[in-house]
Amino acid sequence: MLQWLNRPIGFTEELSGKSFSPSRANYYTGPPGKPIQLLVQARKDFLSIWRASDYKEKVSEIRVLGRQIVIVNSPEPIRHVVVKRHENFQRKTPQMRRALEFLLGDGLFISDGDTWKQRRPLVTDIVHAKRVPSFGPIMERTSVELVERWKRIPEGTPINALHEMAGLTAEIIARSVFGNDLGDDSAAAVTEGFTSYQALVDSINIGYFLGFDEGLPIFRTPTLRRSVKRIHRIIDKVVEDHLSGRGDHNSMVELLVRRQMKSPELKLDVVALRNEAATIFMAGHETTASTLTWAWYLLSRAQWVEEALHAEIGRVCGSRIPTIDDVPQLELCKAVIEETLRLYPPVPILARQTRDAEMIGDVAAERGSLVLIVPWLLHRTGSLFERPHHFRPERFMGGRRPKPYSYIPFASGPRVCPGLHFGLTEAVLCLAIIAQQFRVVVASTHKVEPVCRLTLRPKGGLPITLEKRNGAPRADR
Ligand code: HEM
Repeated sequence: MLQWLNRPIGFTEELSGKSFSPSRANYYTGPPGKPIQLLVQARKDFLSIWRASDYKEKVSEIRVLGRQIVIVNSPEPIRHVVVKRHENFQRKTPQMRRALEFLLGDGLFISDGDTWKQRRPLVTDIVHAKRVPSFGPIMERTSVELVERWKRIPEGTPINALHEMAGLTAEIIARSVFGNDLGDDSAAAVTEGFTSYQALVDSINIGYFLGFDEGLPIFRTPTLRRSVKRIHRIIDKVVEDHLSGRGDHNSMVELLVRRQMKSPELKLDVVALRNEAATIFMAGHETTASTLTWAWYLLSRAQWVEEALHAEIGRVCGSRIPTIDDVPQLELCKAVIEETLRLYPPVPILARQTRDAEMIGDVAAERGSLVLIVPWLLHRTGSLFERPHHFRPERFMGGRRPKPYSYIPFASGPRVCPGLHFGLTEAVLCLAIIAQQFRVVVASTHKVEPVCRLTLRPKGGLPITLEKRNGAPRADR
């Protein structure tokens, strides 16, 4: 392995040109002092608004229609915001709250204050690292099902990796949250409902910029209402089944219900239980799907890493299918996922609204202003990462770790992603199970364009073809 580490590794991503090399022209190069253009541009694509000078360690501010937006791109001020002064910066932005409240109610992802404080330990406990092994068999079985389906696809047939990974991770999280009794039709309806919901909501709350501190509710079109009603109906039925003693005992909903029964003072009614189940489902699948999709893209462009990855899987698992017990030994697989999360953080912007006025670095943040921590910028800042636009998984190997608060794909502090271990384990395991059987090929002429909605994804998905690996073990157990 060390021999491999000494090889010159890393490639300059020539692909989207969005922000890969500071000399490129694809940075926002419009005239300064026209922030309204930025707002329009950000609404279309949040990643295209950054200038080359934004990829620096600093705290800066801009004003849009009188609103202050503070951008925090330096480890110590980030620590200040997410840890030291968490209470003042824990609130999500009006955009985020308004976009998701119709679907998630007061679910953890968008709550703050007492509701967040009360629910956070509950959700953390349910998806905690110590529980992850119990979901291993679901991750393994679902990945093997995908591998078996892929084997029936004639070699060279184009498929969409984003779509495939979204299906895989949605199935894993649906089985983990709702149990095995959900049924194919309901599982598909929930997944489709979430996808169409996200496509329908806007990425900027214009109401906030027009003077409403709390933003304005999103326009609830008949399609949106229908989609939400359907999701709620299905989840409510699962929760009610569990409350009356029916339902899969190994699921996260069961754990939520048991916690409520043990501690009735939590006062989690059907709606609260549904909100938390929906939150875990939403937070837990698109992020991992995006990670895996970008990992296939990066591996396809760095064959020397791909080969080393195949060798590692062979060495650790031999002719067995990888299992959750192998994950700690799959050091390179994990490093590939961590480096992917650096270059393409699925949540590329962490956005907050200040409760009270407070200094962040040299910038006086006003009450009610927006504070943005942008992992997309931070992870590609030259003073924090050597050759920041290069794919170099070895940054995460042999005990090497980035400087604290310079690498935050799962956020940090009290609001850190509670599903961190679940998501990392799932991504490593799915990667290993699939890579053991297939090479995922992205045409060398294909140019990816990262776009940001709620998560960071390649625009239009990622077209791939599959090559069966010679000598790969059979995936049927
Ligand atoms: C690679 C996979 C994942 C990534 C990169 C990721 C990233 C994140 C980030 C950055 C946040 C904070 C967002 C913010 O503060 O604005 C977050 C929150 C959250 N994540 Fe994840 N996540 C992943 C997987 C998961 C999984 C698998 C689950 C559940 C099983 C999950 C559950 C949650 C929940 C419930 C929150 C809200 C926590 C709170 O606000 O207190 N995530 N995630």
